[in-house]
Amino acid sequence: MSSQEISKIFVIGATGAQGLPVVGALVADRKYSVRALSRDATSRRAKALLALGNVSILEGSFADEAVLREGFRGCDGAFINIDGFNTGEKTEIYWAIRCYEIAIEEGIRFFVYGNLDYALKKAGYDSRFRAGHYDGKGRIGEWILSQNLANRDRMGAAVFTTGPYMEMAISAMTPMTPSVEDGILTWRVPLGDGAVPHVALEDCGYYARWVPCNTPSACASIVCCVDRLKSQSKADLTDNTCSIAAVRRF
Ligand SMILES: NC(=O)c1ccc[n+]([C@@H]2O[C@H](COP(=O)([O-])OP(=O)(O)OC[C@H]3O[C@@H](n4cnc5c(N)ncnc54)[C@H](OP(=O)(O)O)[C@@H]3O)[C@@H](O)[C@H]2O)c1
Repeated sequence: MSSQEISKIFVIGATGAQGLPVVGALVADRKYSVRALSRDATSRRAKALLALGNVSILEGSFADEAVLREGFRGCDGAFINIDGFNTGEKTEIYWAIRCYEIAIEEGIRFFVYGNLDYALKKAGYDSRFRAGHYDGKGRIGEWILSQNLANRDRMGAAVFTTGPYMEMAISAMTPMTPSVEDGILTWRVPLGDGAVPHVALEDCGYYARWVPCNTPSACASIVCCVDRLKSQSKADLTDNTCSIAAVRRF
């Protein structure tokens, strides 16, 4: 897929933590323009996107076929991050499939799907490790890659797999927010000796921009990961600047 073929990109999730750096990177040099979906065109984040230039806001929900059709129509690229926390696993799967189908119907040339690992499958189908917001995306990521073998002449597709945002380890009110316990900066993480691939939000922007220009095949899987962080690593990172770091596992 040549980047010359893509000029206008429909983005779902544009006002989100991941979408903001993605849209910022896409319009940074005015090579692309973005049509960003938001349920509230007057929100602070929607206004921040508009202020970047080369961005328009389409108001509506991704759970609405007419809105999806309007969003894809007239665009040639798409970056789709369906908020599974908002929809729940079953609904996310349905609307992700409809996004892919309507994108083809409306003539999108390159479709990027914001994905997460298919955790259940990677855990050997052991339901103790089921995570709805991971599996809802991971199943569709695999479905898109196989579907697109048949559709590759009409639309290129890339599955963009990330993991927890590294920024959450130093942000308030996230599952990874540390606390000070007995004078010790403490992350309580259910990792044991395992490791989780994390992503930096800024990198999402870089790769969302990179993928349509550089993907050699019409059916690609891109994995974006800063590092496979073990719980001790968070303490190690902090230890450079702070002597009160520790991680407690459970
Ligand atoms: N947290 C993590 O570490 C992480 C890492 C990788 C992937 N993810 C996945 O990313 C997704 C969430 O994106 P985010 O992290 O950017 O979250 P976020 O900051 O909460 O943003 C949610 C985004 O989804 C949009 N949205 C929600 N419901 C919508 C609807 N019905 N119609 C249209 N837009 C809707 C919101 O737009 P408006 O509010 O403007 O309508 C906003 O742009 C989830 O599926 C999550 O599993 C999360």
